[in-house]
Amino acid sequence: MDKGLTFAVPTLFGLEGLCADELRRLDLPEVRAENGRVLCGGTMADLPRLNLNLRTGERVLLVLGTFHAEDFDALYEKTRALPWERFIPREGQFPVKGHSLNSTLHSVPACQSIVKKAVAARLGEKYGLSTLPETGALYQIQFSIMKDTATLMLDTSGAGLHKRGYRAQGVAAPLRETLAAAMVMLSRYKGRDPLCDPFCGSGTIPIEAALIAKNRAPGLNRTFSAQKWTCVDKKLWLEAADEAMDKEFDGDYEIWGGDLDPQAVELARHNAQLAEVDDLVRFDEDDARTFHWGGIRGRVVTNPPYGERIMERREAEELYRAFGKAWAKFPEGWKLYLLSSHTEFERTFGKQADKKRKLYNGMLKCDLFMYL
Ligand SMILES: C[S@@+](CC[C@H](N)C(=O)[O-])C[C@H]1O[C@@H](n2cnc3c(N)ncnc32)[C@H](O)[C@@H]1O
Repeated sequence: MDKGLTFAVPTLFGLEGLCADELRRLDLPEVRAENGRVLCGGTMADLPRLNLNLRTGERVLLVLGTFHAEDFDALYEKTRALPWERFIPREGQFPVKGHSLNSTLHSVPACQSIVKKAVAARLGEKYGLSTLPETGALYQIQFSIMKDTATLMLDTSGAGLHKRGYRAQGVAAPLRETLAAAMVMLSRYKGRDPLCDPFCGSGTIPIEAALIAKNRAPGLNRTFSAQKWTCVDKKLWLEAADEAMDKEFDGDYEIWGGDLDPQAVELARHNAQLAEVDDLVRFDEDDARTFHWGGIRGRVVTNPPYGERIMERREAEELYRAFGKAWAKFPEGWKLYLLSSHTEFERTFGKQADKKRKLYNGMLKCDLFMYL
């Protein structure tokens, strides 16, 4: 009965390809990356697997249907024709949110209310009720209308997947966990050789690196909306957690984070404890302008201040200049992956990157500068 489900995983712009690779590694069929999201096929057993294992996806949406809709009648009728009762029980709460882009139906509040009415009509008819109680678990409906094509989905995750459950509180400009994981994955880090972040802030990059080195599923320390859904057998969550834990490695890794701010270092240590990787990562108060590390090879994966939010542009440039000098002393076997939105980064750092990749830190367009 659960054959033939479709999942949609929204991602930060620039991470679609990485997320598609993750889905393939989880053996999901029909993986296709689009702008800002990745789609795949699957079964009900994959719903917990996706939520527990994905590092770069923002949430897991179950797709109920996709159809053409240029007017409210079409949106209502085609939404009502979808099998909502297969997932939403009699008491389920089903609020609606969504977005519309380049479409005739552009009023989001109006579409929200049409979708709500259509689903209520369908469920009311199936359950023989004129008013649905909506006192039970949450089945958040999401719609997207792009170029007059509507996709109707249920959000299985609840809080976004970047919320791994280890961030006690933020520092001034924390990096989203999904983006930190993506940077570590782009550096092809597999747990061998040292990995250092000399601007570690709350420790997101070293913590994500430790989770990747251990092959620990990032969702094991949190809960998801669909854990309360009656249509997902509880044993599927247990099986997915067992499967994920069986894939974990034990090992010693050289993962380090440094920051000038002692409060950031404290916070990073605390977050590492919450993530249960404090035995694998070390954090110290240190100045990146004089950063050095022994050994002939390793990786620096880092997110220094950009001069937009934390400090002024000039100060950022001074910092890049000094860090560039520190970097110039590293042996050739070291690689650097540095994320910045600063347009003059390469000039002030003193070296052209070998490769660049466009990534978005929230709404901020950045480059991942790669020195290989
Ligand atoms: C953009 S934040 C890093 C955020 C971090 N990725 C996180 O997820 O929390 C930049 C960090 O660089 C630190 N910083 C600024 N100047 C520094 C220096 N000279 N040496 C080391 N850290 C420095 C700041 O204290 C700040 O925590």
